[in-house]
Amino acid sequence: MIRNIKANKPKSIAFRAIWLSLFVASSMSVLPALATTAPKLGQASLDEVIQALSLEEKVKLVRGTGMNMGDSGPTVGQTKDKVPGAAGTTYAIPRLGIPSIVLADGPAGLRIAPTRDDDKDHTYYATAFPIANLLSSSWDLSLVEQVGQAIGAESKEYGVDVLLAPALNIHRFALGGRNFEYYSEDPLLSGKMAAAMVRGVQSQGVGTSLKHFVANNHEWNRNTIDVQLDERALREIYLRGFEIAVKESQPWTVMSSYNKVNGEYTSESAYLLTEVLRDQWGFDGVVMTDWFGGKDAAEQMAAGNDLLMPGMDYQEGMIIGAIKSGKLDEAKLDRNVKNILQLVQASPAFSQYAYNNKPDLIKHGQLSKTVAEEGMVLLKNNAQTLPLRDKQSLALFGNHSFDVLIGGTGSGDVNEAYVVTLEDGLKEAGIEFETGLASAYKAHIKTENAKRPVSNNPLAAFMPKPALVEFGLKQELLHASAQKYSAALVTIGRSSGEFVDRQQSDFYLTEQERAMLDMVSSVFRQQGKPVVVILNVGGVIEMASWQDKADAILLAYQPGQEAGNAIVDLLLGHTNPSGKLPDTWPLDLPDYPAAKEFPGTVLDPEAKPEGMMQTVPAKVTYDDGIMLGYRYFNTQKVEVAYPFGFGLSYTDFTYSAISLSSQVFSDKIVAQITVKNSGKVAGKEVVQVYVSAPQTNLVKPESELRAFAKTTLLQPGESEVLSFELSARDLSSFDQEHNMWLAQSGEYVLKAGKSSREILQSARFSLPKDLAIKP
Ligand code: BGC
Repeated sequence: MIRNIKANKPKSIAFRAIWLSLFVASSMSVLPALATTAPKLGQASLDEVIQALSLEEKVKLVRGTGMNMGDSGPTVGQTKDKVPGAAGTTYAIPRLGIPSIVLADGPAGLRIAPTRDDDKDHTYYATAFPIANLLSSSWDLSLVEQVGQAIGAESKEYGVDVLLAPALNIHRFALGGRNFEYYSEDPLLSGKMAAAMVRGVQSQGVGTSLKHFVANNHEWNRNTIDVQLDERALREIYLRGFEIAVKESQPWTVMSSYNKVNGEYTSESAYLLTEVLRDQWGFDGVVMTDWFGGKDAAEQMAAGNDLLMPGMDYQEGMIIGAIKSGKLDEAKLDRNVKNILQLVQASPAFSQYAYNNKPDLIKHGQLSKTVAEEGMVLLKNNAQTLPLRDKQSLALFGNHSFDVLIGGTGSGDVNEAYVVTLEDGLKEAGIEFETGLASAYKAHIKTENAKRPVSNNPLAAFMPKPALVEFGLKQELLHASAQKYSAALVTIGRSSGEFVDRQQSDFYLTEQERAMLDMVSSVFRQQGKPVVVILNVGGVIEMASWQDKADAILLAYQPGQEAGNAIVDLLLGHTNPSGKLPDTWPLDLPDYPAAKEFPGTVLDPEAKPEGMMQTVPAKVTYDDGIMLGYRYFNTQKVEVAYPFGFGLSYTDFTYSAISLSSQVFSDKIVAQITVKNSGKVAGKEVVQVYVSAPQTNLVKPESELRAFAKTTLLQPGESEVLSFELSARDLSSFDQEHNMWLAQSGEYVLKAGKSSREILQSARFSLPKDLAIKP
């Protein structure tokens, strides 16, 4: 393995420092010293502790310590120095035994500062795991749980109490800037993945934060946008994943989102935060805002948004003022304080866990590689181009063959100890590759990087950088390499991240990329040599217009710090690809129903942009309802580049007929399918179970994913029986007129497929009468 552990990685978390300077210092008033016999958290009851808190102290507890750590008062502690680079901390109240807890991002690995000014001898790297849509492409819940365990262990050993992940907003449209942090266009897959991640992290004794609750599907005007959608779409698509994760994994916290839903900030919505999340789903943890999210601190308190992060001074005045004027009932504040105290009590900080700052980065690096291999998706493989045969040699093309993107930017970025490049991976595997090309590309990348304009936007360092212009490949170099090397490997890369959505142009290959691919393809094919394309992307791109230039295409995503090793192992067949798409890849951007109004509409063209993100009031209407992703493309029979659930293997699988526990549904039904590896090499298969419901007054998609499972590694000829259990809820749609889930009587078809468009077996059963389920 190639692991050049960097001594001191320059990529710092200056972002946090910039935020620090952007926001007003949290100048704290010194609290009066209170009785020394005060009840202590953990010894006295929570109610007694709450009673002993002054109003000012309660208000400190429901806001974080801010991002600018000014001088702290003598009684309320701060931990700004405990874990530098963490996203936030809560206040400590030592006289009542309440410690401060630390919250840190994020979805692909723990995000903290890698180096510390006061400790030059040590580094504090974390493992960069693959991005979320690669994880969901593995369809492997136990593997994702292991990733959670590793991230949880790193959090705990670095003194972090709550990890600000997983993120599970729906991929509604390809250009969503943070799609790479989220799992899928499908809520079942998203919810199951998030639940597995939460179980893993929390098994280590640290908390998680399911985010961003809810309907935060793009970045444009993210702090002001009003998402208008109907209750059915909200329940079936946007809330559904959160519901699954809350019920199946009991996250310690949930993070409300920046946006409004139907006119109300989610962080100020009692309907979402109290009625749905707590009363209907049984959530009993803390709800925190996203950083600087929402407007009215008193409304947030009333709605059940317990914790305001990162916390600002003016919020204290707002809350105290509202209590004094009678607008906010202090009992609501007490309720929120109680939730926060419960969280604190569960934290490693409370039990004074002696963290060692030495998580097992080597072991977690290996896990990062395993996961990357399990989630990459083989999209095309004509004439068994892959796996590469012995003694093949490669010529590498495309900027990103030499500048691998291992993750996205913003709070989803990780400060990893090392990156295995594609070249590293090839060297490690003993595969010869063209070095003249490599030098030319690297010189080009260096020159172009040096030309990047210096931005005066303080967040620029944390936003995706505009792509570098593709290297102008010379015919001579190309012809020489096609003579000598047995295959071409072309990498196409796309970066994205927090704060901005992707541009339309990002969805398509640039002219220079097209020209390069055309040239490489025609010259190599003239020599009878194949062209393999690696997609080093964070989300969906256009493929229909160029994919015939490639003989094989591997979707590698942004695969984490072991990128090069994982890609090469799949190319060589050391690991058989088993990833399947968690999204539909359409032919073109306008094919998405959301394209009509993406990202949204500015409400007042005269409005002055406000705040750090320079947002203006805006709205977007989700008039696609529940018909998005494969629900739309498959129902409307729209031709696509690759359907939801698609992915190739180096072997083949056959499915037995489906055996159903009954032909008539009562309270559940169990389907069994035997999967056999009928090919020549060992491999794993993801079986997807879709259900087509009878068409009634509640219009149904052609079919919906209702269950899935991945086999273990099956040797050629080996079989495995997979079992799937469906409940009434799995047959139901949300009847917004009657505010309930409804499974309607009639005939259902259960389909088992290799993808949403390659159904191998199906079986019918009936539901004799309607079943209504309370939300
Ligand atoms: C992001 C959150 C993140 C928080 C703290 C916000 O900008 O939207 O996902 O957890 O910052 O870093």
